[in-house]
Amino acid sequence: MSPRLLLIVVLAAGEGTRMKSALPKVLHKIAGRSMLGHVLALARELAPQSLAVVIGPGMDDVRAEALREAPTAKVFVQAERKGTADAVLTAREALAQHKGDVLVLYADTPLLTTDALRRVMGSLDQGAGIAALGFEAADPTGYGRLLTDPGGWLMGIREERDASESERRIRLCNSGVMGFRLDDLLGVLGRIGNANAKGEFYLTDAVEIARRGAVRAGVVVCAEEEVLGVNSRDQLAAAEATFQARARLHVMREGATLIAPETVWLAYDTKLGRDVIIEPNVFFGPGVTVEDGAEIKANCHIEHSHIGPGARVGPFARLRPGADLGPRVHVGNFVEIKNSTLGEGAKANHLSYVGDGDVGGGANIGAGTIFCNYDGFNKHRTVIGSGAFIGSNSSLVAPVKIGDGAYIGSGSVITKDVAAGALALERSAQEERPGWAAKFRAMMGRRKSKAG
Ligand code: UD1
Ligand code: CA
Repeated sequence: MSPRLLLIVVLAAGEGTRMKSALPKVLHKIAGRSMLGHVLALARELAPQSLAVVIGPGMDDVRAEALREAPTAKVFVQAERKGTADAVLTAREALAQHKGDVLVLYADTPLLTTDALRRVMGSLDQGAGIAALGFEAADPTGYGRLLTDPGGWLMGIREERDASESERRIRLCNSGVMGFRLDDLLGVLGRIGNANAKGEFYLTDAVEIARRGAVRAGVVVCAEEEVLGVNSRDQLAAAEATFQARARLHVMREGATLIAPETVWLAYDTKLGRDVIIEPNVFFGPGVTVEDGAEIKANCHIEHSHIGPGARVGPFARLRPGADLGPRVHVGNFVEIKNSTLGEGAKANHLSYVGDGDVGGGANIGAGTIFCNYDGFNKHRTVIGSGAFIGSNSSLVAPVKIGDGAYIGSGSVITKDVAAGALALERSAQEERPGWAAKFRAMMGRRKSKAG
């Protein structure tokens, strides 16, 4: 069979009032990526020839997110929320230009899998003109019910509000995902009316209309958790939990050890190498890669960072965007690193801020070192040569360069470049007064007895 063309239409015009949010529902995030982003990423995995996204009026941020995640998508604005069939018809121009299959997805169903979608397309290959993705609902309340004939073919989809007593007892529900292989999908959609309890144009009515034209409709069943629709914050949290469980399993299967997986939070794109060990309570924001054999100790917060092979991070370290740790780098407790590179074997083990810096291989950043990168207006870089030693409690006022192998005496405030191999000290000379303590105590004692 020659490969068929595919158009995917993603519906995202809902306001999501139950989220009680200033943010449109589909921009709420799961594992660091918007729900719309998850659905578009999934859609792109099917390599459709065209991708359409239907948004509501005034949703400029949703449009921007759609184009960020899928730059070639066509965005259509549904003027009024008149139902799912009307929403699909909003993409009329894309439908009219397209000759092939059409797959409709909802943007608030972020846990869908490509496997389920491929099976929907498979049902079309087996002769169905329409295929709906269904699931056995633990509690079917609120969902459309799938009405099937004894052969398992789909006869119709009945929305809860329009369903009879007996239809409501059906637990096989509509997920919202529907595939179409029809010669005249636009014609079928155009014949859908709104004589129903909600007064909406239901996409689901396409099944009964197409069947009148002798089209067969199929059902593909998936697990309920895959089609969890997010309408409220508690469902958002439930979707996050499911996503995390999947992501943890995935990284463990790829060879990472999570000592307490349920306490590790992964982003949608976290990459962990082989033999990476993650201790409890570690949070990964987006954009993190951890190379083979690295170890992240307990209670770290890491985002947009790269951690080289065999590196050791934490406990209690914070890696902010642009932290790039080379092989076998050590970053210890209460160390914050931002927009900085640390060369192979460099160490910053205790209580430091390393911001906008380049630290050479094997350099040692002593406890309490601060990179003073900001003058209230601009950020400046600190460059530290390989093998340099920064004494504890030093302030490096950027822009500044410390040469290879140089030493900085503890407690120095360094404002000028330091040559390779030199010692730079910036603190007053230490003074010592022999026997001073005894004299001082005697004087204080006399004062106290006079006062008493
Ligand atoms: C829909 C299905 C129902 C299914 C359920 C699964 C219909 C008629 N019903 O019901 O069978 O069990 O999803 O969750 O399709 N949307 C628009 N424009 C509109 C209306 C909706 O873009 O005018 C979008 C929404 O943003 C949402 C999706 O379509 O992403 C579903 O709409 P919603 O109103 O939530 O449908 P349900 O009543 O939940
Ligand atoms: Ca819904």
